Amino acid sequence: MNEKIGVFDSGLGGLSVLKELRNTLPNEDYLFYEDSIHVPYGEKNDDVLFEITSKIVDTLLKEKCKIIVIACNTATTACMKRLREAYPNTIFVGTVPAIKVAYDHHSKDTVILSTPYTTKSKRVQELVRDYHREDQKIHLVSGENLASLIEQGNREEILSVLKRVLAPYKETCDSIVLGCTHYSLIRKEIAEVVPNVDLLDGCVGISQEVKRQLESHHLLTEKTTYGDLTIINTKDDALIQRSFELLDQES
Ligand code: DGL
Repeated sequence: MNEKIGVFDSGLGGLSVLKELRNTLPNEDYLFYEDSIHVPYGEKNDDVLFEITSKIVDTLLKEKCKIIVIACNTATTACMKRLREAYPNTIFVGTVPAIKVAYDHHSKDTVILSTPYTTKSKRVQELVRDYHREDQKIHLVSGENLASLIEQGNREEILSVLKRVLAPYKETCDSIVLGCTHYSLIRKEIAEVVPNVDLLDGCVGISQEVKRQLESHHLLTEKTTYGDLTIINTKDDALIQRSFELLDQES
């Protein structure tokens, strides 16, 4: 029970999930695995994503993580089922676009902004089928190469992509679901392009689910002091410092 919580994503996006996890479960130790060398996941196919994510799971298990949080909508929609089959004794919590949050929020005109992979995925179709009011319009919108631009910190290009992909919905939508964890890092830019809409993500729900899982498996830490955080970056150790800085920033 005093082992770490493993969290992974293709890069910085997972920080939005990690931040909320540390608010909810501050005494736990975390290992955050940033797979920057493989960004963008959202432009890869099922088999490649499964190969990449199973190697990450192997690493996190070798590090003795007691639960694995997939802080990535793309990896979850593409691989969760296969990972659960391949690692039946591992507890996984995934991330899917917060379509249920929009439903509970009584959104009437909702943009689901996700990576190219997630936008076309069967899992998203299922979520729309399950959480869709009759009077609610839902638009599945691809954020194209936004994840890579966010990794590069290219603000001008980010704004230009956002303006283009959100233009048709700008006047009518009342909520945007941030269906890629990277997009939680550009809330300000999205609000600049489409002001006065609610930006919804699933970070709180994921953290609550991790807490529930740890409780039900009697795996909550016994520590009463603030937990440690270790970050691994597959591309460049210099990127680790940037992540610690982003975690400290107000979102
Ligand atoms: N942050 C990830 C997601 O939630 C993936 C971004 C990417 O690498 O394309 O989908």
